[in-house]
Amino acid sequence: SSSTSYKISVAGTGYVGLVAGVCFAEVGHRITCVDIDEQKINILKQGISPIYEAGLEELMRKNYAAGKLNYTTDYIQAYKDADAIFIGVGTPEQHDGSANLSYIAAVARQIAETIEKNCLVVVKSTVPVGTNDKVEQFIHDFLVNDVKVEVASNPEFLAQGTAVRDTLEAARIIIGTESKWAEEMLMKIYEPFNIPIVSVSRRSAEMIKYASNDFLALKISYMNDIANLCELVGADIHEVARGMSFDERIGGKFLNAGIGYGGSCFPKDTKALDYLARQNGYELRTVKAAIAVNNDQRTILFKKANQRLITFNGLKVAVLGLTFKPGTDDLREAPSLENVPLLLEQGAEVYAYDPAGSDNFRKLYQEGDYYIKYAENPEEALDGASVCFIFTEWSEVKAVKPEVYKRLMRTPLVYDGRNIYEIEEMKAAGVEYYSIGRAA
Ligand code: UGA
Repeated sequence: SSSTSYKISVAGTGYVGLVAGVCFAEVGHRITCVDIDEQKINILKQGISPIYEAGLEELMRKNYAAGKLNYTTDYIQAYKDADAIFIGVGTPEQHDGSANLSYIAAVARQIAETIEKNCLVVVKSTVPVGTNDKVEQFIHDFLVNDVKVEVASNPEFLAQGTAVRDTLEAARIIIGTESKWAEEMLMKIYEPFNIPIVSVSRRSAEMIKYASNDFLALKISYMNDIANLCELVGADIHEVARGMSFDERIGGKFLNAGIGYGGSCFPKDTKALDYLARQNGYELRTVKAAIAVNNDQRTILFKKANQRLITFNGLKVAVLGLTFKPGTDDLREAPSLENVPLLLEQGAEVYAYDPAGSDNFRKLYQEGDYYIKYAENPEEALDGASVCFIFTEWSEVKAVKPEVYKRLMRTPLVYDGRNIYEIEEMKAAGVEYYSIGRAA
């Protein structure tokens, strides 16, 4: 095509940085991915992705072989003559709910000290509104050479498990800039993607990211709230959601009630916006409510089971699904992290199954240190169990037929946090089945 090919460096090879770098290379830009972690860079050069993401390694290898994608720890070489530098490092949550910006600041300082030509710095990481003004000031304060440098905001909307598709076929690209130069350059960088670009101010762009994520979190908490009421009044949340979904103003997505939202984004971004509001003397009541509902939702099945059984002590408990959602090995803010310790504390013998997350879980809860065993398949976890919890709707879990619970478990008692079965089929198979928002 006639699109301009830019020399772009990407700081950070986590979810945001690596996927962006690979996709930029795929559309024709020349990319250098930068990370301080030497081991990670070596792995990347071998075409191995440090994150679990379908389709990513294929694009990594293809573009690396074509010479469009490189990896390095040498940020000086990578930054000095880059047309643009994208920042995709982490902004982890701190104890007070605020975002830790030290990784962003470290990269900003390296950029200021190394760039030798005019450069657009683009922040992809999720940062509190107003941060990019400060990043720009920070770079100007430390700038060594006499070059033009501006900071733009370009939040990321990919979801784990579908990262490549979400990037190459995004619903929209948000760019937040404060000058024509920055706006036009970002537009040109994104031109080959053929995706609608929404150009706004830098602060609006930063806000769009939080407002979008928190809206989705709210949507989930709202459905969980309604689900809990459905259960009490004898309505069925699936039927209710389906009925709602035909209204285009509501939409059919993200209406699934369950064990609460987890992951590295919704929990963090709801708390960060709440923090930002408080800092500005405002109380964000809707988002606060979403957080509160989610906190309670995560242990709702444990509490229910705890009331049904005298004790978990000495009982074999099957846990199906450890990750915060299917398609990832990520455990961050996963319901399992809250429920498994509660079970272990009460003396349960936990048999966990997860097709991707067991290795990460094992780092936290080792067999031997705790009464926990990792099963190779759902059947192994269920064999002889007195109770089963379903925390992640993996297809491997969904494939377990109702009669398998009846056949393998000592008592077929199932608490399903993802509503993967029909009530009637479980009943017909002789399983005592509890889920979310549907009368048992
Ligand atoms: C989320 C957003 O969907 C992305 O658009 C965003 O870019 C990303 O955060 C981010 O800020 O980086 P992700 O956390 O990967 O992506 O996962 P989601 O698929 O959104 O799921 C989040 C949580 O909500 C999961 O625990 C999932 O089980 C839960 N969920 C989702 C529900 O409980 N019900 C639903 O209907 C949908």
